[in-house]
Amino acid sequence: MAASYKPRKGDKSGAASDSPSQSTLIRRWGIRAVLLALIVGLYQWANTINDRFYILTPAELNETVQHSLKLAADLNTDPKTNASLIISTLVNQLADRHPEMSWATDIGNKRDWVFNNAGGAMGSMYILHASITEYVIIFGSAVGTEGHSGRHTADDYFHILTGQQSAYEAGDLTREIYNPGDVHHMKRGVVKQYAAAPETWALEYARGWIPLMLPFGFADTFFSTLDLITLYHTVRVTGKEMIKNLLIGKI
Ligand SMILES: *[C@@H]1O[C@H](CO)[C@@H](O)[C@H](O)[C@H]1NC(C)=O
Ligand SMILES: *[C@@H]1O[C@H](CO)[C@@H](O)[C@H](O)[C@H]1NC(C)=O
Repeated sequence: MAASYKPRKGDKSGAASDSPSQSTLIRRWGIRAVLLALIVGLYQWANTINDRFYILTPAELNETVQHSLKLAADLNTDPKTNASLIISTLVNQLADRHPEMSWATDIGNKRDWVFNNAGGAMGSMYILHASITEYVIIFGSAVGTEGHSGRHTADDYFHILTGQQSAYEAGDLTREIYNPGDVHHMKRGVVKQYAAAPETWALEYARGWIPLMLPFGFADTFFSTLDLITLYHTVRVTGKEMIKNLLIGKI
């Protein structure tokens, strides 16, 4: 419809017509490049300041775990209650040592335990502490599991309490083995395939910008399990802990 064709402003015939639209294009992409650089810069800057919000240290957590394992082993008589004794001893110690952060300690409350499907692995977890920059959970599986570790944006420390975890990186032909008392440190950016034997339970500690890690944790819900009830409870307990911590000034 030639009649409805309106030339754009500055749209003349010939080679000269290209230059204004080209410069518009260059400006548009220039703005996008600057925005992208700003976002990358902001993210990198955010990663240099988050350590001022951390309260826990891997060394102290390891020490608390070792102490609880020993205490539980001394008290223990029955293998059937072993894991629950170790976990409750540990949880009480953490809450005693760090009253300045909020802890959920009611591990007998089944309503606050949730399944977690991520990277093809399935386990269940109890959130002991969740704030914007740190989380501490009990994670494991009574039947065992295997899957992709996820490519984390933060350092992740797995303190094995019972059972056994094994893992390897692509290119390795043998596995790393982690037994009770061992710490499996998943460094930022590293990916592994991991497996957990039946009745493996671990204290997992992660630090970094926690909200940025949640998409991996939820991906399997949207693309595999469609278990929205579990998603609801996960968001409920995570949100509750984060808000409780914000209210007492723990970022
Ligand atoms: C944890 O503590 C134990 C006992 O003190 C020590 O042998 C081990 O090397 C520590 N592990 C890490 C990863 O720091
Ligand atoms: C209890 O758990 C610890 C750590 O996983 C293990 O070393 C110990 O053998 C267990 N004890 C019993 C009685 O199952």
